[in-house]
Amino acid sequence: MIQLPGLIDPHVHIREPGATHKEDWDSGTAAALAGGFTMILAMPNTRPPVTDQATLDIALEAAQIKARCDYAQFLGAGPDNLDDLESLAPKTAGLKMYLDQTFGPLRLDDMTLWMEHFKHWPKHLPIVAHAESRTMAAVILMAALWDRPVHIAHVSLREEILLIREAKQRGVKVTCEVGPHHLFLSELDIAIIGSGRSEVRPRLAKVEDQEALWANLDVIDCFATDHAPHTLEEKDSQTPPPGFPGLETALPLLLTAIQAGRLSMDDLIQRMVVNPRRIFGLPEQPETWIEVDKDVRWEIRAAQMHTRCGWTPFEGWNVQGKIKRVVVRGQTVMQDGEVFAQPGSGKRIR
Ligand code: DOR
Ligand code: ZN
Repeated sequence: MIQLPGLIDPHVHIREPGATHKEDWDSGTAAALAGGFTMILAMPNTRPPVTDQATLDIALEAAQIKARCDYAQFLGAGPDNLDDLESLAPKTAGLKMYLDQTFGPLRLDDMTLWMEHFKHWPKHLPIVAHAESRTMAAVILMAALWDRPVHIAHVSLREEILLIREAKQRGVKVTCEVGPHHLFLSELDIAIIGSGRSEVRPRLAKVEDQEALWANLDVIDCFATDHAPHTLEEKDSQTPPPGFPGLETALPLLLTAIQAGRLSMDDLIQRMVVNPRRIFGLPEQPETWIEVDKDVRWEIRAAQMHTRCGWTPFEGWNVQGKIKRVVVRGQTVMQDGEVFAQPGSGKRIR
């Protein structure tokens, strides 16, 4: 049995408000604890999206009643919320800028709007960009011009990780995260998972891209799940929405990779605790840890998960390493798959 600090996931889609049949603050934070995460940062592409005081209040009120782990809520960059940014910023996890098309209406096309958001958002608080390929190059340029940090979500391509390496080497304040699905899956897996279920943004990439992420592990600051639950019925429909659940599979997959010699336990702790805490300015969680049996071999089964979406792209995968117990503030909140934390016991950290 080994003891690790509580993990931090800086990229989680809780579907409340608006789509609680996929997930809500209760089921999503139960899934987080089952996966070893004691703190999550929630994305703003809900219905309605979180872009102002009123919608932030809606999300935070639901969280206050239901959350079982600690949390903060991102604000979405929109066309009309520039004047609110400064006052809302300290109450949020950060500003999320959607610069490429994905799930939900929050997309900023016009670069003058990007610039305005860069100007108005306090320099010491995080900006996270969904920016793929050339859009990523553009937003990294903007971070350089404004000499402020930007965090790039879910890097998936070889050209992207190489670009970030070069930008870092030149002193640009850019950090990035990679999702387990881009480390462990490629377009070769689409035939097995099914085409609708494989929809995710960024898409599953080529094996060369997947290999480039592993080869450039030193450039990756965080592993973030991008837990994006949609029900099986939705995924198997004519218009499958993009996204995978990830909270309950991330750590077992990465522990298995440690067993295989692909990374070290310290690499994992840096990317799932130390760096997210530093990049997002998050508080330490006292008397909080997780216990892992790194020898147990088991098979991933969606039926045993807490996420409401009812499926996983890793169904049937054999992994080694199981989360046995999670302790938050001295209390056992999860043991052997059973979540004991009460709804509302999670703390808002901003
Ligand atoms: O696949 C994705 N799903 N990518 C995103 O950027 C959004 C997410 C979602 O909210 O479903
Ligand atoms: Zn996301």
